[in-house]
Amino acid sequence: MATSGKARAHTNIALIKYWGKANEEEIIPMNNSLSVALDRFYTETKVTFSETYDKDVLILNGEEVSDKESVKIRRFMDIVREKGQTSDYALIESENFVPTAAGLASSASAYAALAAACDEALHLQLSPKDLSRLARRGSGSASRSIFGGFVEWEKGTDDQTSYSHPVETDNWEDDLAMIFVVINDQSKSVSSRAGMSLTRQTSRFYQYWLDHVDEDIAEVKRAIGEKDFKHLGEVIEANGLRMHATNLGAEPPFTYLVPESYQAMQVVHECREQGHLCYFTMDAGPNVKILVEKENVDAVVDALHQHFDKEKIITSDITRSGVEIIE
Ligand code: DP6
Repeated sequence: MATSGKARAHTNIALIKYWGKANEEEIIPMNNSLSVALDRFYTETKVTFSETYDKDVLILNGEEVSDKESVKIRRFMDIVREKGQTSDYALIESENFVPTAAGLASSASAYAALAAACDEALHLQLSPKDLSRLARRGSGSASRSIFGGFVEWEKGTDDQTSYSHPVETDNWEDDLAMIFVVINDQSKSVSSRAGMSLTRQTSRFYQYWLDHVDEDIAEVKRAIGEKDFKHLGEVIEANGLRMHATNLGAEPPFTYLVPESYQAMQVVHECREQGHLCYFTMDAGPNVKILVEKENVDAVVDALHQHFDKEKIITSDITRSGVEIIE
């Protein structure tokens, strides 16, 4: 008999970055991280388990993904099967809802939606905390996409203790937005998994990064509690740059940033000089994400339009919705 479940999860952007694993197999991070969930970018995934299937099949945006490209997902499904005490394979049908400009699909929303869909299909009845632990096994940042709003991932020390939880605010998320500057990456990209592993193992700046993350987390939580946007922004911008600095200290050194990334950062500086507070952060790629209060979105977007094509600038609200079952 076939059993199925369908779930939607939003992607998230880390304000304090997860960068480096203490345990690569179980995806236990070296440091706590903290993110916001995005309204416009999400994944919907339907999972159907059946004893008649002879392997897991992934259909992504209507197209079947090859076995070679779906290794990570099939490994994740083995973990799910163990939890659900089943040997059935699954058909996974997944749609990414991201604006047409490329490069914004995320493993965070993908594994959060998949974990919740599997939970529903196999009647696992996992708590949000256990769902976050399960999603973490697919991709670390997915542990945060179980929840909406501001979310902290507690690094923990093992599989039991490494999971995310929401950071309470008085709905401050509703006043904030994130502007994406989509920058095409011409260079051969280094995955976040490979980049953080090389950096953790070889970067002479890595210990410095670790030594300062806890105070960044504490400061960000204080800023959220006080709704102090300036303080929040200053801490997250410094944290993101410090993460990118660790990559420059790796052997061999590498960077995700390209000239257009710096140009976008420069626009952010100019906006601030004109009194429009906004702060940037970048992940394992050249795109620049700008956290801004909603009242300043138009001014910042106008400034970005002077340098970037209109379709490369995408604005999203912050959502307070966590993962949800939709069928
Ligand atoms: C730079 O969660 O994609 O976006 O756990 O290896 O799947 P894996 O990595 P992933 O790394 C995200 C790194 C980051 C920072 C962040 O989201 O915290």
